[in-house]
Amino acid sequence: MAAIIVVGAQWGDEGKGKVVDLISAQADMVVRFAGGANAGHTLKVGGQKLVTHLLPSGVMHPGARCVLGAGVVVAPEILADEIATCEARGLGVTPRLLISRRAHVTFPFQSAIDRAANAGPRSIGTTGRGIGPTYSDKAARIGVRLGDLVHGARAADRVGALVEVWAERARAAGVTAPTVEGALAWVAPYMEVIGPLLGDASIAVDEAIRAGKKVVFEGAQGTLLDLDHGTYPFVTSSSTVSGGACTGVGVGPTRITGVVGITKAYCTRVGHGIFPTELLGEAGDRLREVGEEYGATTGRPRRCGWLDLPALRYAARVNGLTALAVTKVDVLAGLPEVPLCVAYRLDGVETNEFPVDDLDRAEPVFLNMPGWDASVSEARTMDALPETVRNYLREIEQRTGVEVAIVSIGADRDATVVRREVLV
Ligand code: IMP
Repeated sequence: MAAIIVVGAQWGDEGKGKVVDLISAQADMVVRFAGGANAGHTLKVGGQKLVTHLLPSGVMHPGARCVLGAGVVVAPEILADEIATCEARGLGVTPRLLISRRAHVTFPFQSAIDRAANAGPRSIGTTGRGIGPTYSDKAARIGVRLGDLVHGARAADRVGALVEVWAERARAAGVTAPTVEGALAWVAPYMEVIGPLLGDASIAVDEAIRAGKKVVFEGAQGTLLDLDHGTYPFVTSSSTVSGGACTGVGVGPTRITGVVGITKAYCTRVGHGIFPTELLGEAGDRLREVGEEYGATTGRPRRCGWLDLPALRYAARVNGLTALAVTKVDVLAGLPEVPLCVAYRLDGVETNEFPVDDLDRAEPVFLNMPGWDASVSEARTMDALPETVRNYLREIEQRTGVEVAIVSIGADRDATVVRREVLV
């Protein structure tokens, strides 16, 4: 039996898609537990590219059952479209897809207000996918769950409760108010696709674990975007950390056998919010161009900076990481030196801890590591990696206390060094 959680250890976009895809090759089940269509997983296999926002990366593997847990928020039009795209590609996803009937639904009026808020003075710079409003309505207990929509009377009642509040908001904002009939008519064609796939994700996952299957819980976004533990208020609205897998699916923590954190060899962030190791100017532009750092969901240029080890150490703690996967090591090739943030200085005192509540006052402390050349991408074993890369990885391990199990040195599936299998 193996039930591992894979989480982003930074601000998202760490290359989870590639790593989960790689691990999923041996998985029986791949489960999304939080977030929604704000995520964007770019999967590259044999020169083919597939971007998914809601479906787990396991869709690429015909042997893997794919599950969306209760903690996910679903944009029905995007999910229906992704299912159709996968079917058109011959991935045969429908018979192996299970969607929690407890997952909440995002309606167009929720996305519209999210996008409108991005233009305001207190903008978070969201993906505009209605994530914040959907989770807010869920917490306010006026949300609509997918399972509500397959029962006529309940659908009208639940959508009625939501629309009542939103009609009031629309009137105040001077925009067209949503109606129950309009919302139900909008969602109906998507529910024809999604309705037959609804079920109890908690039971399905429990049964798989009991049967000794290999289960991967696939995180979305990253630790520093977590609603409780991230760089609040510049965060997403869900639990992106490993604990979120338990609440988001309905699986007990004692069932989990390992937690893998994904980190880039450097750092990126999309949207607003503090980013202490950010590189403004040419060095940042270089990372963005070489690393193709543009959002998979919004196309926005990502902010780039050096690797932040106190932040990674923080991620190791709040997630209970048992292994690390370091991605995009190839992007740094050609630099004579690679600065690593190894500590922070706060009120004149140096600390190894990530000062998550005082980042505006903290100053990163850097250690310059010798760089490496493009030959890094040819390595397929740890020993074949340039010595400078091995030193860089050793520094990461020593300062986080977590072993680097996987090193990614290119976008394709085979451009990877697997030092230790993690799905065991
Ligand atoms: P939201 O999740 O759309 O509400 O956006 C909140 C913050 O999280 C913004 O800064 C987004 O840029 C960021 N964010 C959300 N999803 C992702 C992701 O998948 N990758 C990176 N950043 C994300």
